[in-house]
Parts: sequence; structure tokens; C-alpha cells
Amino acid sequence: MREQIAQGLEDARGRTLRLTDLDEPELTAQHSPLMSPLVWDLAHIGQQEDLWLLRGGNAAAQGLLSCKIESLYDAFEHPRATRVDLPLLSPREARGFIGDVRGRVLDGLDGLAEPTPERLFPYAMVEQHEQQHVETMLATHQLRHGAPLLGAGAPLPGGRVLPADSVLVPAGPFTLGVDLDDEPWSLDNERPAHTVDLPAFRIARVPVTNGEWQAFIAAGGYDQREWWSERGWRHRVDAGLERPLFWSADGSRRRFGLVEQVPADEPVQHVCYFEAEAYAAWAGARLPTEQEWEKACAWDPIEGRRRRWPWGDADWTPELANLGGAALRPAPVGAYEAGASAYGVEQLMGDVWEWTSSDIEPWAGFETMLYADYSAPFFGGDYKVLRGGSWAVGGASVRPSFRNWDLPIRRQIFSGLRLAWNVV
Ligand SMILES: [Fe+2]
Repeated sequence: MREQIAQGLEDARGRTLRLTDLDEPELTAQHSPLMSPLVWDLAHIGQQEDLWLLRGGNAAAQGLLSCKIESLYDAFEHPRATRVDLPLLSPREARGFIGDVRGRVLDGLDGLAEPTPERLFPYAMVEQHEQQHVETMLATHQLRHGAPLLGAGAPLPGGRVLPADSVLVPAGPFTLGVDLDDEPWSLDNERPAHTVDLPAFRIARVPVTNGEWQAFIAAGGYDQREWWSERGWRHRVDAGLERPLFWSADGSRRRFGLVEQVPADEPVQHVCYFEAEAYAAWAGARLPTEQEWEKACAWDPIEGRRRRWPWGDADWTPELANLGGAALRPAPVGAYEAGASAYGVEQLMGDVWEWTSSDIEPWAGFETMLYADYSAPFFGGDYKVLRGGSWAVGGASVRPSFRNWDLPIRRQIFSGLRLAWNVV
């Protein structure tokens, strides 16, 4: 377990360093008001690691940075749009700082007398934090203008034509959420495991594709008020939404600096919650709740128990789902037959984050973890839950129980959708 954690920390760091191996102006520029300069993410990763792993979360204890500098990396204190104006560490200083922290952290990990899951949990939490920032940095790269810096991405398996467009999930109870005994690295909002009884529903076998989204545009979906919620329509008008972010009217898209034709068989990404909701209404469907999503993903109705992954209990491999970030895009639908859930639902993990109709709220019996402000400040806010992880997520930092959330207007994230239907 200790080796697995050390390896996970190194994998995350390798990704961080690859995304920030850039000239200084690229790192210190603000590529979008939605995002931090990359050099902020870089030092913030180390600041959080210093706080949780070298000081046990005691913010009053002296860290490797002075208090004044450290406070620049407080995500609650400084909104993203303002971070470019702060006297941040230079890229060189930031790299030196995070390397120094990591050296001490690995020494501490090595020296743990009893590497129990409880003692290792903070390390796993910090690893997931860094992986989350890697995905944020990929979103910054995608928003950046200029010549490509990351290439076209690693090859992906081909798609296939699918037999049916949806599967039935019969009514009945299942176990929602997990306990630390089952998932020692689960974060606070995924716990505790508890029984939930759901009515029957149908859910799409695969996410909505670009080709289907093009049909929605061609049918006038963005101009027809009836498909949109009141808030959604107001946002659609105010923001002038006409197509997914990074798409052009000529059928091309911009992806990490490359301009290419929009591939019809790839899951759509860069749509906001309001667009997802409108598309679902136009298609005669709705978005799944996150409870429905998790049941379709993790429940095994024959065995009457949860699986660790949709495909079973075996760890993720690149043949099972598009995770890990190397592809720089979602895989075509039908690419991962072997990754199907017990109900036959495919591509639940990886490819695109899937908007659900649920607000982020605690499960009954919720208790905060060491990083007490990870989830709790967001409960009751204007946030919708996204599930499943995108192609950009690290393979060890997402699970069927993992809950992401964002504002319903956000679409610089790698967000798409999957349809669901009531069964009457
Ligand atoms: Fe953070």
C-alpha cells in the first residue's frame, strides 16, 4: 500500500511537470479569467502538500513558505481571476518549492512505522488533489490561444456500432456510496455506504455524441425556448450560446491549439448543465440523478453487491476506460465493450464528466475528513453533480462513488452528458 501511494504521488508529479514544462511567459500568463496562471497551480500543489503532509493540516504551524507567501495560494481567499496580479513565486521558485516538499514527504512516508490505511489516507488525499489540479491545468491549456504545445494526444481504440440505445435498470434497492473499509481512499462526500431504493429507469448505453449534438443544433435546439429551463434560457441568451465551447460554425473545433473537424462518434464535451438539460428535453429524455448514475455504474443485481469498478473489481487498465489524460480527447462511443457495467452501460468511467440533475448535498451520516473544507462549503450552493471522470482524470483518482460538482454555467471543464428516461 505504501508503494502504491508513493507511485501514485510520482505519477501525479510527472503529469504536473509535463504540463508546466513551458517557457516562463506561458506559465505566468492568465490564459482565461476562468483559470489561474499555471504557475499558481504549480505552487498551490506544493502548498497543500506541505499543509496536509508536513504539518498535519495545522495551518498555524510554520511551513516551508512564509505566511505571507503561503496565503497567496489559499483558493478561498483569492478568486482565480485575481491570482495573476499576486506576487506569486516564479516558475523556478515554485519548482524548487514543490520538489523540496516532495522530498520531505517521501522521507516521511518511508519512515511511517505503521503504514495503516488511516495513516496513508492523507497521502492519498494529496495525490488526488494534485491529480485534480492536473485536470484543471489541462482545462487551462485548452483555453489557451496559440500554437499547440501538447501534440494531438495518444491513440485510442476505435468505436463500434451499438445494438440498443438504452438499458433498463429495474426498480429496487442498492448500496449508494462507500465506506473506508471498501474504498480506503474515498473522499468525505462519497461516504457512508447506505441503502437507497430507486424506481425503475432507463439509461443510455453511451454518452451523447457530437453527431447527435450537431442534429440538435441543426434542428434549432439553441433557438427554441421550449427545451430550456427558465434559468437555462436566460443564460443561453445572456452568454450567446450557440454550440459547445471551442466549436466553430463551420463544423470544426479547437483542441489544444489544433483545429480539426468535429468527430461525430465522440462523446460531446464542453457543454454546460443548462445545455445538457435542454438537449435532454429535446431528445425526449432527462438527465439521470446521481443516484441513478451510480446504480447503473456500480451495482451488480445478480450478486446483490457493489462492484469496485463498472467492469468488476479488477483495477483500471487502458483497455477498460479512457482515463489518465494521454489521449487529450474522449474515445469514440463503443470503444470499451469490456468496460461495461453489470447492466451493460458503457463508458461510465473516463471520456467525459457526465452532468446529473442532482445538487451536491451530503449523504446521510456525512462526516468531514482531514481537509474539512473539501466538500462541506459547497453543500446547499448552486452546484450540479458530475459523475464518472473525464479522459483527463488520473486513473487512481476517480471511482464509481466519486462526486464532482460545478456551477451549471461552467463548460471549460471536460463535461458531457448521458440521457435517462422514466419507466411508466
Ligand atoms: Fe486545490
